[in-house]
Formats: sequence, structure tokens, C-alpha cells
Amino acid sequence: MQISPGMVAVVTGAGSGIGRALAEKAAQSGMRIVAADIEQPRLDDTVASLGQLGAEAIGVRTDVSVEDDVMRLADAAYAEFGAVNLLCNNAGVFSGGLMWERTMADWKWAMGVNLDGLIHAVRAFVPRMLEAETPSHIVNTASMGGLVTGAYSGPYFTSKFAAVGLTECLAHDLRTTGKNVSASVLVPSLINTNIGTSGRNRQERWVDRGREPAPDVEFVEAMLTESTAAGMAPTEVAVLVFDAVEAGNFWIPTQPSYHDQIRARHDDMQELRHPAPAQLD
Ligand SMILES: NC(=O)c1ccc[n+]([C@@H]2O[C@H](COP(=O)([O-])OP(=O)(O)OC[C@H]3O[C@@H](n4cnc5c(N)ncnc54)[C@H](O)[C@@H]3O)[C@@H](O)[C@H]2O)c1
Repeated sequence: MQISPGMVAVVTGAGSGIGRALAEKAAQSGMRIVAADIEQPRLDDTVASLGQLGAEAIGVRTDVSVEDDVMRLADAAYAEFGAVNLLCNNAGVFSGGLMWERTMADWKWAMGVNLDGLIHAVRAFVPRMLEAETPSHIVNTASMGGLVTGAYSGPYFTSKFAAVGLTECLAHDLRTTGKNVSASVLVPSLINTNIGTSGRNRQERWVDRGREPAPDVEFVEAMLTESTAAGMAPTEVAVLVFDAVEAGNFWIPTQPSYHDQIRARHDDMQELRHPAPAQLD
């Protein structure tokens, strides 16, 4: 899809990291923007920054794990701007640690935000996009953790594999319509964002009251915080995403290691070997 000034972008998780960079890139491209996030102060900050970039923008506080919230987000976008051309389903959280030590709340949080959030958005936005007959494109943020696996990150990687599968199925379904609506999937490696402190936005219904801090969780979160701090800048990711949308690419990797890692994974599958651990860089 060619992106042109006046088109409308909706970005979830726009209060921080990759989402904020995508919203700012949309502003720099002359788009009108609906920014959504669960964290109101950071969302307000993003909307202010979009205004400073000269964009028309609104902020809609949204918990993507809640279907009604996402329906309200779509209502707000169509009421304010009358169209949605680019939908970036980017909100996400990291929930890790040894799988068997995780509570159902840990699992439900990861799946609720990283998978249900996408399902809600497909149901809320796609019918309106198909009806509108204007070019529209959906970018779902998954992860390299949706293509390769490793230890200490079961809930996160599982939710991201589901995000990749969902987006492939979505692309197939959209093709059957013959309409100008398409989808792609962003599969980043390490990006310098606040993902290591995802727990700051964990919903009350998924907090395990009275649980002692778990050493396996503390270990993997510290490792993630340290490794993402040395990662790629979110602004570079936003450029890759906009280029990929314009090129019509389905897969949007961020680092060259993507190619070696998926090749190695497929070799392991062909040879029936145990999967090699992800090399996140
Ligand atoms: N940073 C990385 O290394 C990396 C790598 C691969 C994939 N990703 C993915 O990129 C996406 C963006 O994450 P990021 O790295 O920018 O982290 P981030 O924490 O900086 O930003 C995530 C944003 O999502 C928001 N959010 C969290 N739960 C939400 C909810 N229920 N509803 C709405 N908003 C919610 C947060 O408030 C935050 O503003 C996520 O899907 C993440 O899984 C990140």
C-alpha cells in the first residue's frame, strides 16, 4: 500500500517503544493518527509529540485484552477520521520464567494482550476496512520469538507463535475477498524499548496477590532489560515497517540474523532435530 498524506493510522501500544516510533513515523508521513495505550500518561505524552510534529492526532486509552475497549477504539477512529488505512496492532507484554512455575494468571496476561488483543482488533477493524473500499493494511507486531524458541520465555514465545499464525491466516482470508486490504507481520529481534518492565501495566485481574518474587522471572527480566538496552532504536524499526508496507512484504524482520535463524529452524525440522535456541540480537 502506498502511504500518502491524509491517510489514517491507528497504533496500539503507542505510549512507548516501537508503538511510539510507529506513531511518530506516521506523523512524519503526513498521516492522521489514533494512538492507543493502556498507560494514560505515556499516551498523553505521545499525542503531544504527534501534535508537535504537526499531525492531527487523538489518544484513546485502550486495554487491547478487553474486547469492548478495542471496539470503542475502532468507533473512535471512524468517528474522528472516517477511515483507517494503517492499523498497527503493536501493544504487547513480556511474561517469562520457567513454564511449569508460571501461574494461570501469568499465561492469561501474555495470551490476553499478545493474542486476544489481535483477535479483538481483527474483529473490530477488518469488517469496516472491507466495507470502506479504501486501501487498508494491518501490521501485527509479533517477534522473532514467534519464529524461534528458547528457555525461560514460554508464555511470551507461545503467544508470539500464535500471533504469527493468526497473521498468516488473516492474510489468506483477506486474499479470498479480492479487496484492497492486506496484512503483514513484524518480527523484531532486540529493540531498545521498555519491554523489560512490561509488568508495570499488568492488569489487576491478572496480578497474583501475595506471591513471592520468582528468581527465574527476575533473572529473565533482568537479562531482557540489559539486552534490549543494546538493541536497535525503535525509530529504525518504524522506517523498516513503512518501507515494508509500501513494498507489499509480508514478513518484516529487523536484523539480518532472521535469515540464518529461520533457515536453521527449518533444517532442524527437516532433520527431526531438537530446536536450536533463539539467538536474539
Ligand atoms: N523490544 C523488543 O526487543 C521486542 C522484540 C520483539 C517484539 N517486540 C514486541 O514489540 C511490541 C511493542 O513492545 P515494545 O518493545 O515497544 O515495549 P514497550 O513496553 O516499550 O511498549 C509496549 C506498549 O504497549 C502498552 N501496553 C501493554 N499492555 C497493553 C494493553 N493491554 N493494552 C494496550 N496497550 C498495552 C504499554 O503500555 C507500552 O506503551 C510488543 O508486541 C512486543 O512484544 C519487542
